[in-house]
Amino acid sequence: MMLFHSVSYLILIFIAAHAKPTFKEAPLSSRVIYQSPDSLFIENIAVRASSELLLTSVASPTLFALDPTTVNGTLQLVHTFPNANSLSGITEYHPNVFAIAASVIDPTSGWIPGSVVIWSIDFNPPAPVARILAAVPGANSTNGLTALPSEPDTLLLADSFAGIWQIDARTGSARLALQDPTMLPGGPGTLGINGIHVRDEHLYFTNLQQATYARVPLCVEHGNLTAGGSTEVFSTLGAKQGPDDFTFDRQGRAWMAVHPGALALFSQSSDQKGNWTQQTAVGNANGTDVGMIQPTSVAFGRGSSVQGNTLYVTTDVGQVLAVDIIE
Ligand SMILES: *[C@@H]1O[C@H](CO)[C@@H](O)[C@H](O)[C@H]1NC(C)=O
Ligand SMILES: *[C@@H]1O[C@H](CO)[C@@H](O)[C@H](O)[C@H]1NC(C)=O
Ligand SMILES: *[C@@H]1O[C@H](CO)[C@@H](O)[C@H](O)[C@H]1NC(C)=O
Ligand SMILES: *[C@@H]1O[C@H](CO)[C@@H](O)[C@H](O)[C@H]1NC(C)=O
Ligand SMILES: *[C@@H]1O[C@H](CO)[C@@H](O)[C@H](O)[C@H]1NC(C)=O
Repeated sequence: MMLFHSVSYLILIFIAAHAKPTFKEAPLSSRVIYQSPDSLFIENIAVRASSELLLTSVASPTLFALDPTTVNGTLQLVHTFPNANSLSGITEYHPNVFAIAASVIDPTSGWIPGSVVIWSIDFNPPAPVARILAAVPGANSTNGLTALPSEPDTLLLADSFAGIWQIDARTGSARLALQDPTMLPGGPGTLGINGIHVRDEHLYFTNLQQATYARVPLCVEHGNLTAGGSTEVFSTLGAKQGPDDFTFDRQGRAWMAVHPGALALFSQSSDQKGNWTQQTAVGNANGTDVGMIQPTSVAFGRGSSVQGNTLYVTTDVGQVLAVDIIE
């Protein structure tokens, strides 16, 4: 009996130590954890180790925080950036230090050339400290922002009209590093490259207007980032689908916000070659599901196992949605 107990105890320990997360089968459902009273267009999300959500809006120069563990919480104002009326990409490039893309958008003509600035906000001091990392005067738009995992002071900014800017957070220098037809919009007045993330020395990106999900190998030559090979477009989404920002899970699958109304899940074949298959996790391709309206960005919760099993989705109708994805 004792032996039996010890053996099952050991088996339990073994299972716990080697357990792979079990993802729920799609379709999944979402719940609203926050609804902005004035339908604030929420553009992007980053999650602090404390579990607090950081939210940017293309319609506000203020960085907001939301506690996802409270029911019907309210947005806290973290910092309002000067000389800006819009924020887009946000990424944690050092522990508890975030980089944020700010700019000025004219309601009729769009981005004001020369207005793009990358800021840093450091949550390590008792009160967050903001400072300018770089001006990017050549950028004509801002969208996703990420850092090289191997060199976190190298920031990459998606310019939806041009490609990828490389920004040195230490020196403030900025150069247009990657330009490729797969990053450009297919016509005037629309947006090309949007969500960006680096994984396995590749830049993965979506193109909103071309409705593609693609990657390009990265190479750093004397500090200058270049394409280490040709771009692979491995998914073309359906007509009228607008892929926005995305995040990778622990299995390397990509959870993607797709306009007008889907949270899509992309999985690659086990040999890591070939195209990724697409499933709709929440919502549908025509935007008729009230549980997923105009999603813009996706991030996993942090700070506890419950949070880590929750995917947060922002929308441009002012919502933060939660999707429980692990059993
Ligand atoms: C949260 O807000 C929703 C929508 O306004 C409301 O229906 C719900 O009752 C609220 N929940 C709590 C616990 O206050
Ligand atoms: C920004 O826009 C100007 C004016 O249209 C254009 O000349 C310039 O090439 C653009 N910059 C980039 C990086 O595409
Ligand atoms: C890096 O790129 C910049 C401009 O993009 C260029 O002026 C510089 O010569 C490059 N450096 C090297 C080492 O190639
Ligand atoms: C992969 O997807 C691309 C873009 O949708 C398509 O052109 C290509 O034919 C696909 N390749 C395979 C092997 O299915
Ligand atoms: C929307 O898409 C779903 C499946 O993606 C389909 O079942 C439904 O009929 C569509 N509704 C409309 C109004 O097209």
